[in-house]
Amino acid sequence: MHPKIINALKEHAHEKDYLPTLGLLKLRESIACYYKKRFNYNFSPDHILIGPGSKELIFQCLFVLEGPVIIPAPSWVSYGPQVNVRGKHIIRAMTRRENNYKLTGAELKQVCSTLPEEEQKVLIINSPNNPTGQVYSDTEMADLVKVCRQEQVIIISDEIYAMIDFTGRNKSGFLNHYPEGTIVTAGLSKSHSAGGYRLGFIAAPPNMTSVIQGLSALVSETFSAVSAPIQYAAVQAYSGDSEIEEYLENCCKIHKCVGNYIAEELNSMAVDCPDPEGAFYVFPDFSKYKEELKERYSVSTGKDLAESLLVNSSVALLPGSDFYMSPSSLTTRMATVDYDGAEVYQAANEMEFQLNKDFLKKNTPLIVEGLNAIKDYLI
Ligand SMILES: Cc1ncc(COP(=O)(O)O)c(C=O)c1O
Repeated sequence: MHPKIINALKEHAHEKDYLPTLGLLKLRESIACYYKKRFNYNFSPDHILIGPGSKELIFQCLFVLEGPVIIPAPSWVSYGPQVNVRGKHIIRAMTRRENNYKLTGAELKQVCSTLPEEEQKVLIINSPNNPTGQVYSDTEMADLVKVCRQEQVIIISDEIYAMIDFTGRNKSGFLNHYPEGTIVTAGLSKSHSAGGYRLGFIAAPPNMTSVIQGLSALVSETFSAVSAPIQYAAVQAYSGDSEIEEYLENCCKIHKCVGNYIAEELNSMAVDCPDPEGAFYVFPDFSKYKEELKERYSVSTGKDLAESLLVNSSVALLPGSDFYMSPSSLTTRMATVDYDGAEVYQAANEMEFQLNKDFLKKNTPLIVEGLNAIKDYLI
């Protein structure tokens, strides 16, 4: 985490008063300004709400919004349980490997055709994506938005990884394509390595004032407001400070280098894995080994595979079924961050972020060891 944010927190430790339910005005203004510069988003500070992490805000938003909730499969684990609390079940929209597990307009249209035509629907899209590491391009976003407009679909755009994007085209998002129908959630947890600060925000378009009002009422009756010192510290994070921006860029270089290395190694073992484009996950599919896995390890589901790899090779990954893939799918999600971030950052800094395989072998040994263990397990 960047020391300037830690110092800002120290300097504001004395801020002990309750803050407004929507959050500190200065922070909401800083977020609006930051997102305008970085993504060309037109957020209004009056339609931004600060919360204790974006997870809580996605939950509250799902609580307030009417209509069925569609998620692409695979998607992040928590959406389903959050929707269940509201007494609903998520509607899965299956994606395909040939589209790098990204939802297409045609697939969305097909799912909408099974739902009441007149009813509002909610679609949650996470890009860059957990669990796949994939990022929607402008063309892919436009394709989905066309269907959203036809089918009365509101998008919750979960952008918690938006600043960990290796594509070089990360100047855009769903809000640019669908300003009247996109609710954005994001926060400090991932990009700023500050999960424990519990600082996130949600931003709704001006035509959805009732959503912000509903959320504000819910917040007022539940957590009241995020801790004041944390909100003051977050102003620094969203100030556009050049040193903090450089830190974010450098972290991206590390994530990209590790992610690409893992995907390359897995593909070289015939484990199909799309190259990651952002976030810090990869989504390998072990189905080429289906027969061998069954014969040698009695593995026939993704869950069996995760358990077997843990027991036999001490490698921890999650089965695709935790991310709404079918139980028989041999896809898995692997996190690419099994190293000490501060130490690796320091070492990378000494190499002026010119990173290569030798750097990884030296500085991220658990990752190299884990990949070797998978190889020994399979071959
Ligand atoms: C896809 C996705 N969305 C949202 C979150 C929640 O982040 P936070 O509540 O820390 O803002 C996470 C955290 O793991 C995530 O992976």
